[in-house]
Amino acid sequence: MRIAAVADLHFSPQSYDRIRETMGRVRDEADLLVLAGDLTNYGRPEEMESMLNAIVRLRLPVVAVLGNHDYESGHQAELMKMMTAEGVKVLDGTGYERDGVGFAGTKGFLGGFGRGVLTAFGEPEVKAFVQAAIDETMKLERALSQLRTPKTVVVLHYAPVPETVRGEPPEIFPYLGSSRLAEVVDRHKADLVVHGHAHHGAPDGKTVGGVPVANVALSLLQSQNPPRAFRVFDV
Ligand SMILES: [Fe+2]
Ligand SMILES: [Fe+2]
Repeated sequence: MRIAAVADLHFSPQSYDRIRETMGRVRDEADLLVLAGDLTNYGRPEEMESMLNAIVRLRLPVVAVLGNHDYESGHQAELMKMMTAEGVKVLDGTGYERDGVGFAGTKGFLGGFGRGVLTAFGEPEVKAFVQAAIDETMKLERALSQLRTPKTVVVLHYAPVPETVRGEPPEIFPYLGSSRLAEVVDRHKADLVVHGHAHHGAPDGKTVGGVPVANVALSLLQSQNPPRAFRVFDV
């Protein structure tokens, strides 16, 4: 299956104009489109409506997770409903199987990488924060456990490894993802992870277990030579 992926559209009709033509050709290059979060800027239903208008025209199956920006206005449940009504497979700790490829998706969370992972110690606020990261990890675990396909693709918004956030200021690395997510990916031996959120990160990385990780944030794809509006993976 040829899978096109992009994240961080932060949709507005003006910003989409820059990639509209390229996106119009996605159907020639791929069998399915993955949107890895931050579909909107402020998570407003009207933003989602115009994003869906553009995406539905592409006429190919779409699998998506939400990003932190899509939570900004507190309307995430409504946004998911709107997407589902337009046929988008919204993954939130859930899986979706199509033509022998399983997609496991969740937003993920922040908290840092490797030895820098924040642990649940001390103030209740810290514990609540860490629990949110653990909850997202467990959602990914649940999604991957559901899949019975020979191939699996993990869709996240936050990064599971530090390699693909490199390029961002090191001070903000802990806010860009969590390696707790990568542990689950390795345990289930997924074939590919795509994520976004790190707009100025690096395109490619790997988990400790060797699973390829791709950062498909639109601004990163646009900064490549030649600029792209999506990446295509053969799975
Ligand atoms: Fe973003
Ligand atoms: Fe984000």
